[in-house]
Amino acid sequence: MKIDDVKNIAVIGAGNMGHQIALLCALHGFKTTCTDVKPDILQKAEAFANSYLPERVKKGKLTQAQADQARANITFPSSLEEAVQDADYVIEAVVEVLEVKRKVFADLDRLAPPHAVLATNSSYIVSSRLADATQRPSKVLNLHFFNPALAMKLVEVVQGPHVADASAQISLALCERLEKIGVHLKKEVEGFLVNRVLRAMMRESLWLLEMDVASYEDIDKALIHGLGMPMGAFRLMDLTGIDLAYIRSMERFRETGDLADLPPPRLVERYVQGHYGQKTGKGWYDYSVNP
Ligand code: NAI
Repeated sequence: MKIDDVKNIAVIGAGNMGHQIALLCALHGFKTTCTDVKPDILQKAEAFANSYLPERVKKGKLTQAQADQARANITFPSSLEEAVQDADYVIEAVVEVLEVKRKVFADLDRLAPPHAVLATNSSYIVSSRLADATQRPSKVLNLHFFNPALAMKLVEVVQGPHVADASAQISLALCERLEKIGVHLKKEVEGFLVNRVLRAMMRESLWLLEMDVASYEDIDKALIHGLGMPMGAFRLMDLTGIDLAYIRSMERFRETGDLADLPPPRLVERYVQGHYGQKTGKGWYDYSVNP
């Protein structure tokens, strides 16, 4: 199969990521279906398409004809079977729970045409943990979009040992069609590329703070003005959630047993106090004073 043969895309899961990935595909000329097990989430996804497209026209980013075409390209069936029966490429974006994803992949394998590539948008679950739930492991890979998927340019295409070159190449070609920047990971590694680099940066920033080398404000300033990052590690943690950083560190420690993976004391302190970042009004920074 070549990229020109990909006409129909199915997106499974219409939550934070799925509804935007589906609309992105529809905007780039693919006949797209988007489905979810929860009817209210599916309705929300459809309502988003109905409001997003006219807004883009109003802002001069799309012509009326382009918006109409995108809207005509996307449907929101409630049944998985209907969503994938004609799919050439499937993007799974359901909850990050291995057993749920394995069941979805087994169903996709049964219901989607045999030629279809089955991709997962998972942030951490490598596709080799899903591929053996199907009869087509060479067509199962990670296609990792970033949040928000309509705006963020990067997509990681992760080629595990079971993935055929053709599946990786068609996925990179799909990124190009979607006007994204696809990066090809030739090996399957936990955290993929961006989250590994991010983790190293976070860990080093926390170490510098813990050793009292510099304040978190100064570490953030250094990352912004020295490395050209749009925001520092501590501001970013406040945005994505200190609770999430804590939970991920604990999970990683349980996996590796490496003490260096434990969350450092000052992170634990904030977690225990319920200072999770922007969502609680306080994290490293105080958002009631400095929103
Ligand atoms: P979400 O919780 O917003 O959406 C997941 C959706 O999947 C829910 O609407 C749920 O009803 C639906 N779902 C659950 N089981 C299903 C099934 N069997 N069939 C169809 N739909 C089902 O989660 P979110 O944030 O959209 O994440 C989805 C995937 O994308 C996860 O694997 C996550 O790791 C990954 N991801 C998330 C990012 C983020 O920033 N939120 C960024 C990049 C990837």
